[in-house]
Amino acid sequence: MAIVEVHDLHKSFGPVEVLRGVDLTLDAGEVVCLIGASGSGKSTLLRCLNGLEVPTRGTVLVSGVNVTDPDCDIDAVRRRVGMVFQHFNLFPHLTVRRNVTIAQRRVLRRGAREADRVAEANLARVGLADKADSFPAQLSGGQQQRVAIARALAMQPQLMLFDEPTSALDPELVGEVLSVMRRLAAEGMTMLIVTHEMAFAREVASRVVFVDRGVVVESGAPGQVLGNPKQARTAEFLRRVLSPNLVDGA
Ligand SMILES: Nc1ncnc2c1ncn2[C@@H]1O[C@H](COP(=O)(O)OP(=O)(O)OP(=O)(O)O)[C@@H](O)[C@H]1O
Ligand SMILES: [Mg+2]
Repeated sequence: MAIVEVHDLHKSFGPVEVLRGVDLTLDAGEVVCLIGASGSGKSTLLRCLNGLEVPTRGTVLVSGVNVTDPDCDIDAVRRRVGMVFQHFNLFPHLTVRRNVTIAQRRVLRRGAREADRVAEANLARVGLADKADSFPAQLSGGQQQRVAIARALAMQPQLMLFDEPTSALDPELVGEVLSVMRRLAAEGMTMLIVTHEMAFAREVASRVVFVDRGVVVESGAPGQVLGNPKQARTAEFLRRVLSPNLVDGA
């Protein structure tokens, strides 16, 4: 069953067309890594999936619900779609436990005991069972990002969107967040992940999608797209990512 179906998606900001006709499907249990240069429209695409951006044209279906229909209950869609950003956006004045229970209480109307139970289960899932009573400032960046993942999981989403979840982290903290994501993938979570972690994409993704200037240029098995790209633009992008010191004209 398709969890995400994107057809001919366009998005403009003023005169600038950022998404220029994107088609993308994710089946249940698929892990799709989205790669592409800065400004190519990756975050905008993710944001169109949970209604944070309103597309200019095209359709987005999430679990069969048309997000682009003005009559759609977007709050209901957002409850089913977890999102994890580069910056974790935890409430600094709340404990880890409260950070993970607050949306459960307010949005899902869960009782305190049930919300606590779900929070503890999901903190254990990300390896932070012992940090429930800590405050975000007492945690490392990697731990804070894992709390943000637990917070999203506590809503029992059908789909998880990750927008460069490790790019704000010190290198030694990247691994622990990727391990959590690897485990979620193995559990069958449907995930769409914007990442520059090519080794992770190669290992975990069921599919890699390369986006350039607002269109999907290439999509396929990780080994094919990353190891033997069909499109010249993909090859050029990979050359730059794998040799970050390469500058224009060099
Ligand atoms: N709210 C906005 N208003 C105007 N322009 C925007 C807005 N959001 C994004 N853009 C523009 O849209 C383009 C695509 O942005 P987007 O954030 O989707 O790119 P990206 O692929 O996620 O890049 P990065 O890898 O740097 O995160 C950029 O040129 C950006 O400046
Ligand atoms: Mg982005």
